[in-house]
Amino acid sequence: MKFENVLVTGGAGFIGSQLIKKILPISQHIYVIDDLSTGQKDAIPTSDKITFIKESITNKEVLEYVMPKVEYIFHLACSNILKSVDNLELDMNTNLFGGFLLLQSAHNYCKNLKRFVYASTTSIYGDTEIIPTKENYYKIELPYAASKFATEHYCNVYYHMYQLPVSVVRLSNVYGPGQTILNPYCGVVAKFFEAVNKNQPQIIYGDGKQTRDFTFIEDALEALFLVAIKEKAIGQVYNIGTGVETSVINLLNEINKITGYTEGLIEFKQKRQVDIVKRRNIDSSKIQEELQWEINYSILQGLEKTFQWLREENKV
Ligand SMILES: NC(=O)c1ccc[n+]([C@@H]2O[C@H](COP(=O)([O-])OP(=O)(O)OC[C@H]3O[C@@H](n4cnc5c(N)ncnc54)[C@H](O)[C@@H]3O)[C@@H](O)[C@H]2O)c1
Repeated sequence: MKFENVLVTGGAGFIGSQLIKKILPISQHIYVIDDLSTGQKDAIPTSDKITFIKESITNKEVLEYVMPKVEYIFHLACSNILKSVDNLELDMNTNLFGGFLLLQSAHNYCKNLKRFVYASTTSIYGDTEIIPTKENYYKIELPYAASKFATEHYCNVYYHMYQLPVSVVRLSNVYGPGQTILNPYCGVVAKFFEAVNKNQPQIIYGDGKQTRDFTFIEDALEALFLVAIKEKAIGQVYNIGTGVETSVINLLNEINKITGYTEGLIEFKQKRQVDIVKRRNIDSSKIQEELQWEINYSILQGLEKTFQWLREENKV
């Protein structure tokens, strides 16, 4: 399998940068559009096969320039959930309008588009009581869920009206190598490891009994890859999660066992506005059955791998 020319939006972010590393050897050229609002330029590998454009995905001229050159698009740029409640307009502008512009310009300017992969989120399930949650559910309560889900609708529109080859994955709490606290909005796994590193208290919002379905980065990347190459994925939406719930307190305990951080302090803080989800458990049988996606990492294996990476990088 070879990719021709690829556009990765948000390629300086956690998942985007790891995706670039994975597909670089099999890609002809990769264009990256990232405004570095939370991403790090250093996260992108150095290669003459990569063109980095420090710009917003809402810049139409940039899209007009890049789109005719690419056959594959991975749309990962986003304004995150924490920012969304503080600035609804930024969230809507980046996640919905930006997503719309990408679809529109892919339709208008791509000469031979093979796939438009959109990284959506299981945040669209809100505080569901339907566990495990399948793709046919939604409960929109936060701006981030609204803007990410609305972009899924536009993916559908472009697929049905213009046969644009779109595929959507709904990712659930991705963690692992590449996720760093250089992005202050990063996920809880990186935050807990960082507290170990700095010998600081580990902060839990709420009582820590809330669960999440943590997906290891390698498994998430494989899902992005599969939906990009498999014909069957066109026009489809797939959940990406493990079907295993881990409470935040158990996550912390496992990280502390792995790192030997037995003296650490836990600081319980009041829930934030975004902390509405009590349980997250994702049914990803659709992608497992249709595209033979496999979950290769349990939470313990994923955390071990993350710790190994942090040690190699001298970060713990
Ligand atoms: N990490 C997760 O657990 C998770 C879970 C569900 C869905 N997702 C989705 O996956 C995608 C990638 O997530 P991530 O964890 O790598 O996020 P991230 O915050 O690490 O990366 C997002 C990147 O987008 C860039 N960006 C923000 N606004 C931009 C704009 N207007 N123009 C260009 N670039 C812009 C940021 O600088 C950053 O590099 C996102 O779309 C997110 O919604 C992630």
